[in-house]
Amino acid sequence: MEKVTAEVYSQIDNDVYKKEGDIWWKPDTVLHILKTSVNPWRVGYAREVIQKLRIRATDQSALEVGCGGGILTEEIRRMGFATTGIDPAEESIHTARNHARSERLDIRYETGSGEHIPYPDASFDVVFCCDVLEHVEDLPKVISEISRVLKPNGVFIYDTINRTFISKLVAIKIWQEWKRWAFMPPNLHVWNMFIRPDEIKALLQTHGLEWKEHVGSKPNISIPKMLSFLRKRVKGEWTFVELGKNFRLVEDSDMNILYGGYAIKKG
Ligand SMILES: C[S@@+](CC[C@H](N)C(=O)[O-])C[C@H]1O[C@@H](n2cnc3c(N)ncnc32)[C@H](O)[C@@H]1O
Repeated sequence: MEKVTAEVYSQIDNDVYKKEGDIWWKPDTVLHILKTSVNPWRVGYAREVIQKLRIRATDQSALEVGCGGGILTEEIRRMGFATTGIDPAEESIHTARNHARSERLDIRYETGSGEHIPYPDASFDVVFCCDVLEHVEDLPKVISEISRVLKPNGVFIYDTINRTFISKLVAIKIWQEWKRWAFMPPNLHVWNMFIRPDEIKALLQTHGLEWKEHVGSKPNISIPKMLSFLRKRVKGEWTFVELGKNFRLVEDSDMNILYGGYAIKKG
């Protein structure tokens, strides 16, 4: 898989993450859905992988690439890792630092992109990159950088969105475009930047990472129920708080939309 064209990349709105102020931790905001609705699935999966590989987090270092305001980073720190988070959006890093301080969590946050990770080779035992790969301009470079900063036998844990007919219907049309249900800003995601599992597998292989598995996800509720919940939010009957309490992802074999996985850096 090649990097996306400048024409495709120009369509995604990554400036959302550069807004001043806290756009991550206030409960009634769209990005807080990452905590209420996505964290249960992805943190649960990460814990499963860590347990399966018998990783002693308290003896190891972890990097989150594209950490935003720290919604996943804080969970990584709570698992016990010596934790670093990087993101190109300085405003988000500022929020992440402030929030970690208020939670008394010792996390190193720095600005930096996945294409140019600002650390030497073999710096980390585990690298996380969740809900980010479908936002980057140069995916092959990001995967090669992640591989570079991982120690031999280090673990790469990721999730992203598949490029399928169903992801176009749900993640683009329903979540973003069709005003009857949409809860995300337009162009938060661009369908052509979504990544098929076979594409990421090939990239991992090319960059010295041995792919191990993929897992899927599904909403905890039926599709008609999800639509009725999204409608309540559009009509102002619910805020993101109620939406987040009632709608979340759970692990499933369905990889049509969000899927996760892990790979090991070859020794
Ligand atoms: C959906 S948010 C995910 C944030 C965080 N990983 C989480 O899940 O809570 C996407 C993040 O990717 C970051 N991002 C965009 N382009 C990036 C790049 N080239 N390298 C690293 N991060 C990038 C954005 O600034 C934003 O913080």
